[in-house]
Amino acid sequence: MIRTDPPTPDLFLTPVDEVFVRNHLGPHPRLDTATWSLTVEGLVERPLRLDFPTLQSLPQTRFTAVHECFGNPLHPTVPTRAVTNVEWAGVPLAAVLELAGPLPEARHVWLEGADTGDFGGESGTSYLKDLPLDLAGAEVVLAHGMNGEPLRPDHGYPVRAVAPLMFGTNSVKWLSRIVLAADRPDHLFTTRLYTRVLPGESESRPVREKDVSSKLLAPGDGSSVPAGTCELAGYAWSSTEVTSVEVSVDDAGWQPAALDRRGPDPAWQRFRLPYDLVPGPHRIRCRATDSAGRVQPLAGDRNAVHEIRVVAEASTHPTGR
Ligand code: MTE
Repeated sequence: MIRTDPPTPDLFLTPVDEVFVRNHLGPHPRLDTATWSLTVEGLVERPLRLDFPTLQSLPQTRFTAVHECFGNPLHPTVPTRAVTNVEWAGVPLAAVLELAGPLPEARHVWLEGADTGDFGGESGTSYLKDLPLDLAGAEVVLAHGMNGEPLRPDHGYPVRAVAPLMFGTNSVKWLSRIVLAADRPDHLFTTRLYTRVLPGESESRPVREKDVSSKLLAPGDGSSVPAGTCELAGYAWSSTEVTSVEVSVDDAGWQPAALDRRGPDPAWQRFRLPYDLVPGPHRIRCRATDSAGRVQPLAGDRNAVHEIRVVAEASTHPTGR
């Protein structure tokens, strides 16, 4: 299968215009803040229907996080790097859960979008995801802003869930319904797709926490650069902090790159390595390791090491007189 990932601008914050748009179910629903509402139902003491002004009156948070697509759930091991770094603004899900009062039997939070359509042989399905209640209460934010502006229609306007440490599939757009339940929902996007067996494990688990990964952004893939000292740089990310990034040029060994610390937000981390490129074509690869000890594989999985090709051009000195 040939997969072309969207380009990633070499900037710490990805402009909204450059953020990929991924929908499973066709055109986005046309919603607006005047008519939108979010129901909170199921195993709760107080079922709710929240409108947009009420949501905005709740405590707000703002943070920067990597926003990464898992890739095609029908081909879960194909290497892919649809990735951006975005500032989100919104309300912690915990504040909404507190208003609703989960009953003691509630164990799972179901998050449903307003879009419906056909995917994977099913028709008229909705976009539904679920998370364990504790995890959702600790991590999920109901976002209405992206990079300082209201969410755009393609990205889930007026409100979407954001699970900052998880793959984008968990960040339900056009959020319209939250259900607290004792069990996981059996659904196309929860138990049938977006599950995988991790290396070293035998049981399949839902696609949630991001893998350790990295992407070389400078120089650009396929570009020509002057031979000589060149900064090889890009970003690395994971659900935990990335602790090292190594770079390999052609078949020389892996060399450690300088790496920024992650900071309080789960943003991506800059790595850089000055390198003396001799004239000619080069293959450059990067490999990240995170604080959980996970290392990007060389091949065979979606987060296999990233590779770019560049040509270093010998300088042509102007002839003197
Ligand atoms: N939410 C809804 N309602 N419908 C969808 O199809 N796609 C998911 C997620 N949330 C999806 C959704 C997937 S697979 C990804 S990668 C992200 O949204 C993409 O978010 P973006 O389009 O804002 O970049």
